[in-house]
Amino acid sequence: MSALVCPTIAAVREAVRTAREQGKTIGVVPTMGALHEGHASLMRQARAETGYLVVTVFVNPLQFDRPEDLARYPRDLATDVKLCERMGAEAVFAPSAEEMYPGELLTTVEVTGVSDKLEGEFRPGHFKGVATVVAKLLNIVGADRAYFGEKDAQQLAVIQKMAADLNLPSRIVPVATVRERDGLALSSRNRLLTEEQRRVAPALYRALSAARDRIQGGASPGEAREAALAALAATPDIQVQYLEVADAATMQPVERIEGHVRVAAAVWLGKVRLIDNVLVG
Ligand code: PAF
Repeated sequence: MSALVCPTIAAVREAVRTAREQGKTIGVVPTMGALHEGHASLMRQARAETGYLVVTVFVNPLQFDRPEDLARYPRDLATDVKLCERMGAEAVFAPSAEEMYPGELLTTVEVTGVSDKLEGEFRPGHFKGVATVVAKLLNIVGADRAYFGEKDAQQLAVIQKMAADLNLPSRIVPVATVRERDGLALSSRNRLLTEEQRRVAPALYRALSAARDRIQGGASPGEAREAALAALAATPDIQVQYLEVADAATMQPVERIEGHVRVAAAVWLGKVRLIDNVLVG
């Protein structure tokens, strides 16, 4: 089935209006393209739960804190559209930066607290960029359900809080992280790894899982964190940026386990930055 590629806000709104007139529920999967099996799993779930699937493909300049990261972010719309079609998407919203940000942007969305620690400490302005574009995308598409991966756990928590605080009409649906057989979480950035970096990259998930197992075995967050850091320190080529045990909803580091927590980390492998997390509880 071919998908309708909509370069404009008017075109995607028209497509969604027509689907609604046919009584369909609308699902949206917001992406920045460079689609992989992780995105496919978001689409698969959206496809199963809604009647009309819109995938958005937009490399959002507002959320990049490093210009070189924006410049080398992989872009290949034709391949992305093919994957969306294979997954049964009816429409692909692929706007230009001018379409999304036509004039001076004087309104932004900032989710304080949830955005501040972990990624927020190392990527200033990143979550403001994410929250602003996701608010715009959800307003543009007006979907019933919007799907986000748990790999970007803090992004998910930011979006959930924003949707609740602003009464956004789309229900935010979390989708489990998809991993390679050796545990490496799928990411568009994996394709930037050299062969050797790709070989050592699964050490990140192993360290996070070991920390989770320790917490489940009764260790404190501090003990689990120290053990995971020691394991990563022994891995050549990996530089840890942060590794924290944080409350899954507020994303604040915790010293005692109450409710759901995530062990989350960001590491550098050469020039490639990878993030991952595991849920405990
Ligand atoms: O996770 C992503 O790909 C992006 O941060 C998102 C949610 C599409 C916003 O640009």
